[in-house]
Amino acid sequence: MDRRQMESAIAGVVRCLGASLKNLGLYPTTHPLVRTPVEKCHVELAPFFADRSELALTVSDGTLVLEGVPIFQLTSSLELFMARLGAIGLPAVIFERGVSVEDIELFVRFLHETKEQGLPIPEIKSRLARWGVTHIRVTATEEEEKDDFALAREIYGNALNVVVRALKDVRNGKIPDGAESDRAVREMSGMVSRNRDAMLALTLIKNFDEYTYNHSVNVSVLSLTVAETLGLSETERIGIGVAGLLHDVGKTQLALDLIRKPGTLTVEEFEEIKKHPEEGFAILGKMTHIQESTRAVVREHHMRFDRTGYPRPEPEYRMNPHSHVIAVSDCYDALTTMRSYQKARTPQQALDIMKKLAGKSLDPDLVELMDRSLGVYPVGTMVRLSTMEVGVVTGNPGGGKGESMVAILFDRSGNPLAAPKGVDLKEPDPSSGKPRRMILGTVNPLMHPPVSMSGILQAVSA
Ligand SMILES: [Fe+2]
Ligand SMILES: [Fe+2]
Repeated sequence: MDRRQMESAIAGVVRCLGASLKNLGLYPTTHPLVRTPVEKCHVELAPFFADRSELALTVSDGTLVLEGVPIFQLTSSLELFMARLGAIGLPAVIFERGVSVEDIELFVRFLHETKEQGLPIPEIKSRLARWGVTHIRVTATEEEEKDDFALAREIYGNALNVVVRALKDVRNGKIPDGAESDRAVREMSGMVSRNRDAMLALTLIKNFDEYTYNHSVNVSVLSLTVAETLGLSETERIGIGVAGLLHDVGKTQLALDLIRKPGTLTVEEFEEIKKHPEEGFAILGKMTHIQESTRAVVREHHMRFDRTGYPRPEPEYRMNPHSHVIAVSDCYDALTTMRSYQKARTPQQALDIMKKLAGKSLDPDLVELMDRSLGVYPVGTMVRLSTMEVGVVTGNPGGGKGESMVAILFDRSGNPLAAPKGVDLKEPDPSSGKPRRMILGTVNPLMHPPVSMSGILQAVSA
């Protein structure tokens, strides 16, 4: 594309965005006058991504600038578009390669429906995540900028509050607000699409006292990750995520010391525990904003793949396939958590145990999918490198297909570094040209002082 072609294409993109936004004020979202410009915009954007991965749109001194090209031919729809960007408080909008018609449509609707002015950037980011916009992002120029990990932490913390509130409500004989769970899961789902590793890393937060709460959020995040890898629709993903968040809500009906009892249960105690899926099913039935399938999944989360669990299904009973997603996530989180009667397994050990359960209590396809998508070394795994340094995996780009990202915590003599050091495993050794560091294998995290994963992630991403 030469300069002139680029300028005219850019003008086309912005004109389409403006036209759609303007018509959205007059017609419903499905109207061709709203929809067609969005589709046109998508077509106009495509050639840009032939040689670049993103395209930046900024407002600078009252002028709209796309990839450094100022747009001067202002039309009324363009002016409206700029005014909306400015009012909401967006200094820059970035379109990423892979942006879909749906992303653009949702973004235009976001501009139209957001009535507040001067929102802080993290708030705009979390809203876009909530709306499900994945390939359009906003950036701030100044210190307002928060990285994905900070945003993920905020979203995780919010979901945790929602669970705490929901379980307390049930204990107090109140019906929890289903809309709150729905909203929290939408945020997490958006974040999983945007930066899966940032969200997954948080599932490593294992708070012993608050086990049920963190466990609920972790199961939701893991299930959302599986659901996304399966390519399920948004409605299905949200339904699964809410089921994950509330799968053990029925335990609120059990005595607290029974839930917290370490070690083996008596036969009578186990009979009590077995009631929680049905109790959960009943509670969800009274809540608003809960999909029918979510209810079914909560009831079925211990039925097991081979149907030997509880409540025991009748031969003709048809299980919801999504129940198996919750079951694998539930199992993975339980195994990687330290309990009074069990040490925490490393992610790899947990996956090995799960492979033995595949086809029996767990769906073999989902175990395999989880094994593949979490990568050979899932985020949070402690690894020894060929340099004998020890570090922790902080990310697995490309959904586990790329080289893991590692933060080194201990030097080759085992001394802790002053600060975690992020390294690129692709970085070559200047003398041999071969990668300087390779992962040799996992190390037992219990051999090293405990590390704060969120602290490491923050240090490495800063
Ligand atoms: Fe359960
Ligand atoms: Fe559970």
